[in-house]
This record gives sequence, C-alpha cells and structure tokens, in this order.
Amino acid sequence: MAALEILPGIYSVGVVDWNVRNFHGHTYTTRRGSTYNAYLIIDEKIALVDTVYTPFSEELINNIKEVVPLGKIDYIIANHVEVDHSGALPSIMALCSKARILGTAKCKEGLYRHYYQNWNFQTVKTGDKLELGRRTLNFIEAPMIHWPDSMFTYCPLDSLLMPNDAFGQHFATAERFDDQVDQCALMEEAEEYYANILWPLNSVISRKIQEIQKLNVPIKMIAPSHGIIWRKDPAKIINAYRSWSAGDTKNKAVVVYETMWGATDKMAKQIAQGIASQGIEVKLYNIAETDRTEVITQMLSARGFLFGSSTHDNDMLPNIAAFLEIVKGLKPKGRQISFFGSYGWAGGAVGEMQELLKDSGADFTIPGIAFKYVPDQAELESCFEFGSKFAKILK
Ligand code: FEO
Repeated sequence: MAALEILPGIYSVGVVDWNVRNFHGHTYTTRRGSTYNAYLIIDEKIALVDTVYTPFSEELINNIKEVVPLGKIDYIIANHVEVDHSGALPSIMALCSKARILGTAKCKEGLYRHYYQNWNFQTVKTGDKLELGRRTLNFIEAPMIHWPDSMFTYCPLDSLLMPNDAFGQHFATAERFDDQVDQCALMEEAEEYYANILWPLNSVISRKIQEIQKLNVPIKMIAPSHGIIWRKDPAKIINAYRSWSAGDTKNKAVVVYETMWGATDKMAKQIAQGIASQGIEVKLYNIAETDRTEVITQMLSARGFLFGSSTHDNDMLPNIAAFLEIVKGLKPKGRQISFFGSYGWAGGAVGEMQELLKDSGADFTIPGIAFKYVPDQAELESCFEFGSKFAKILK
C-alpha cells in the first residue's frame, strides 16, 4: 500500500499482510490478515517510527521513497524489538547512513541480540523528548506491553499516540482509519488481539492506562503498529482496554472439551443445557475441531469455564492438554473453573486438568464430575444439574 498522509507532515508508510493466517508461532490465528504499521514524520528533522516485518522491507523502503529519500532520515524510533516491527531495520539502516535509533535500554539489548549490529543507538526513558523542529516526540516506557523493551511515542503537537502493539488489531484492510471500516469487525479484532496477546498482562495495562490519564494529555489519534488508526473515537478503544484489563466479565460460561468416542461430548451438551437453563449465556467448543484463538476470545468476557476430556492413558486428551497450557498462561484470575469427562476402567483426566490449572489464579468452587464409559440417563441428568449449579455461582 502506498504512503498516506494521516496528519499534516505525518505519513503512514507501513504495509498490509493480507495473507498471514498464523502469528506468534501458530499460537494465534489471524483470520483477517494483519498490517505492520510504520510512520514517517517530516519536520526540520525526519523521524521514522518503527519499521515492518522483514519480508516487507522493500515495500517499506518504496513507501518511504515516495515521501523522502532514505538518506534524509535522521532518527528511527524503535518502540519494540519484536521482528514484525524491527525486521526491516537492517535494510533501512543500510540506506540511512546518518540515522540514529532511539529506544529503551531493553530495546538496545534486544536489537543487538536479534541483528548483532553496532548501530548508532540512543537510549531513552519515560520523560525524555526528541526535538524535530515544530514537533517534539515524548517517550513513555511501557514494559511488558507486551515485551520488556516496549515503548509508546507521543507527539503533543498533533495529540498523536503511537503505542506500537497496544490498541492494535490483526486486521488487513485497504482503509487506514476507524471511521472507514465495519465497527463490529473492528472491535471483534481488537478484542481477539487483547484476549490472545495481552490478557495475561491485565494489571500492567490497567496501571499504564491510569498513568497516561494522570499525564492529562489530549489524545486525538492513536496510531498503533497493527491494523487501523483510531481517529474518530480513540476513547472507544481506551475504554475497551480499561474494561478488559479490569477483568470485567458478564453472565457467560464457555464449555471447552475433547472427546474420544462421544461420551464426553454427550456430557458437554447436557452441561451446556444446564447452564442455559439458568439464563446464563453459554458457548460450547470441541477444541479438536475449533480454532483456539476464537475460543480464547470468547473466554475473555466469560465469568466461568468448564473443561472436559475423556481419559486416555490416565490423562487428558492431547488437544485439550495443549489448550489448557495456553489457559494456564492467561492467568484467569478470579474466573470460576470446573471439569468433566468420561473414562473407561480408570479415571484421570479430570484430576490432571485441575492439576494443570491449580496455580492459574482461577477459583474451583464446584468439584468436577466423571462418569464411567457412556453416561446413562440418570448421569446425563447429573450433568445438567452440574451445569445448572455452576451457572448459579456465576450470577
Ligand atoms: Fe506486533 Fe510484539 O509485535
């Protein structure tokens, strides 16, 4: 996509990755593709804010060339080390002989460990400023949103926040702004991005939002490093982040399971009916058949989760095991969790699932249930009651 002037003298020079379908080593399915955003600021001095993923280096260079020759770039702001934002740095630095890179101390260390180059690097921290001419750039360290090196860049003249990954979405579009795209799709992608990347960092994000509010600076535009730019209503995404990071949930339960011959599937469906009988919203997924990115997104707003598995070799089945490893990493503090499953001659899955999540911060108020082989009618009614009881504690 060509360079686009998003504010007088500030250009979007990033790229659209229409075809990417997996991210972070296949932990995240990017069904709508993504973008790697970079911004070029033209003033007495010229600054490039972030770069793009390595395979798109040439496209970034061509976009910059539409505005200025690369040799004129004075500064490159590296808000984040991760390769989707720094991957084009070696190609860019080869063409910008005088450019100085600015980033946090952790960024300096991280860039060296990625590229092993002794680039001209200036370490900055919160409160440091860079004078460009009419404009000044202010830097705000944002460690663990979502890497230790992460940083936000703020331009007071334009009330423009460039927070890198924060407030982003994996959303490939030809449009660049929030007012140009479908609002449901936009917020769906923003929520999916938060659930799958930022959820474990709730407390850090909550504190950072409060810190930025205390700075009392106007934010008229948020230009993240993925997806569209928030210009119509930046408060919309800030408020959404405030709610998600506070752990706000609704009367909703998510049932996730894996089944060997269908007995655990029968249990899952009865449990879901029991939950629904209490007027609680319920979502049900066989994790062996479902995209886990979608499931985790649904879990973000749910107050309770029920995990099921048939017992195999005295343990849970492999797809639910892989999924629960991710759930453990999400640290679902304060969410209600319980377990269910069928077994043959010896149980094991229910206990192993609880053991896996015992340090996750979740609450285990309702003990799990397990039935031998295929549940009979009375046992299916017990599953319904189990779901109903679980739903009552979510209210
Ligand atoms: Fe979009 Fe943390 O990289």
